[in-house]
Amino acid sequence: MKASDCEGRVAIITGAARGMGAAIARLFAAHGFYLCLNDVDEVGIGSTKSQISSGGARVIRQAGSVASESSVKAMVQAAVREFGTVHILVNNAGVLKPTRVEKITEKEFDFVMNASAKGCFLCSREVIPHMKKQGWGRIVNISSSAGRSTSTLGGCHYTAAKAAMLGLTRAIAKEAGPFGITVNAVCPGLIDTEMVRHTISSGQIKRFEKSFPIPRLGKPEEVAKLALFLASDESAYITGASIDINGGDLMM
Ligand SMILES: NC(=O)c1ccc[n+]([C@@H]2O[C@H](COP(=O)([O-])OP(=O)(O)OC[C@H]3O[C@@H](n4cnc5c(N)ncnc54)[C@H](O)[C@@H]3O)[C@@H](O)[C@H]2O)c1
Repeated sequence: MKASDCEGRVAIITGAARGMGAAIARLFAAHGFYLCLNDVDEVGIGSTKSQISSGGARVIRQAGSVASESSVKAMVQAAVREFGTVHILVNNAGVLKPTRVEKITEKEFDFVMNASAKGCFLCSREVIPHMKKQGWGRIVNISSSAGRSTSTLGGCHYTAAKAAMLGLTRAIAKEAGPFGITVNAVCPGLIDTEMVRHTISSGQIKRFEKSFPIPRLGKPEEVAKLALFLASDESAYITGASIDINGGDLMM
């Protein structure tokens, strides 16, 4: 991919304080994107920002929840104020809870659904008018193998939230395609981030690794490379797709 294709393109990345969001931010910054980093964890996005600003990248941060309409509006306005428009949105924010169905409270159900499904809707809705105006846009939704099958670690609310992202991907791709906007989903399997390390023990991780055709966890940087491709000109004819990256854990 030519750096000139990416230079100066404006990307919003949600959930960028750590894990895959931070890896996507580092890779996009290295390719010359201007970035607006979002997360509920203000300190975390500060640290992602300082890692990438030292390389000279143009970055702003906007803390807030993607599940809040007012926060999402403020985030998009901040990006437009700073950089003039938005070309790319990466809907990466998400939360995983391993609770079994009978134990999930209404509050926890909403919390998990809102971070992935409602957040994906609200952020997409706010950026699309800017993308339409310039006749070019890329929305990359970080769903999960959970959305294609069922979650390995999360409860039914996590599976439902990630499946909802795949539905949003297809439906918004259909509406937005004629305006030069593509919308695609990335479906990672088990990736080596805090989300996984905080949910299961290293012994359990080793057992999972042995069961995968490629016997290891995925790396956040590998997911970031796929997100970069989907955010570029190179992927212009791919839209409404759900792309697996899971070491062969799930084949369908
Ligand atoms: N790690 C995996 O194995 C895996 C696999 C498949 C999909 N995913 C998905 O990929 C995405 C990134 O996962 P990760 O492993 O890097 O997770 P992570 O927990 O390390 O990072 C997720 C980030 O999202 C932020 N966040 C959560 N709710 C938010 C909200 N409402 N608004 C803004 N920010 C919010 C968190 O603060 C955190 O910094 C998530 O959507 C996750 O569901 C992860």
